[in-house]
Amino acid sequence: MTRQAIVAANWKMNGDSALVDAMVSGMADVELASNVDVVICPSSPYLSALSQKINSAKLNEAINVGSQNVNEHDSGAFTGEISTAMLKDLNINYVIVGHSERRSIYKETSTQVAKKVQAALNAGLTPILCIGESEAERATEQTETVLSAQLQPVIDEVGIEKFSGVVIAYEPVWAIGTGKTASSAMAQETHQFIRQFLAQQNELVAAKVPLLYGGSVNAANCEELFAQADIDGGLIGGASLKAEQFKVICSAAKGK
Ligand code: PGA
Repeated sequence: MTRQAIVAANWKMNGDSALVDAMVSGMADVELASNVDVVICPSSPYLSALSQKINSAKLNEAINVGSQNVNEHDSGAFTGEISTAMLKDLNINYVIVGHSERRSIYKETSTQVAKKVQAALNAGLTPILCIGESEAERATEQTETVLSAQLQPVIDEVGIEKFSGVVIAYEPVWAIGTGKTASSAMAQETHQFIRQFLAQQNELVAAKVPLLYGGSVNAANCEELFAQADIDGGLIGGASLKAEQFKVICSAAKGK
């Protein structure tokens, strides 16, 4: 079995033109294993510049640009939103969907997230579907129920076969931006649950879906996390804002 590894940078509402330049020059000599994709997701005003600069610097073709969000509608009166067609127009091929900050601050529901995943797939974009439980849900042993309830509406919307074109990022909400990483054993246990949940619906697809871990991943803890059997890379927030750290994390990823 070969499964793609992916390291994705989620800049959130951080960064500027100087960071775009620093990242492009920093990534010029990054060493990547053969089946690793890197995806850098800046805020939307920087998508175009980042994409163009990566091309003109002739960076490793495994380095991609992704959006942090997309709208589920094709076009129209949705002020402030970005469509899948706009992303395709800019040669963007990945999009983060359903990040916990979108779910909690902007009240995105799993039904809406499912529509976004469908729109992304229809347009030929690879969605990075984020799921994860809160601290209270983990403490009351609801993790598996919550993850199932976040995944199933997406499976119902797009069909399990289409998950071969989906990347899942498991991000325990209590580990995001807090410095509290899940232990590698806890992360592996949850990733294994997610893969088994998919396998109950389609084993071949489950074996192929890259499962990324996210939540306070950094240059010091990435190697141990990425060594786990069901962890295929990471979604990196804070540590992706420094090219040197991000490079180390990218180099630690290996396909399985
Ligand atoms: P963090 O963020 O690495 O800063 O914890 C991860 C994320 O929210 O994607």
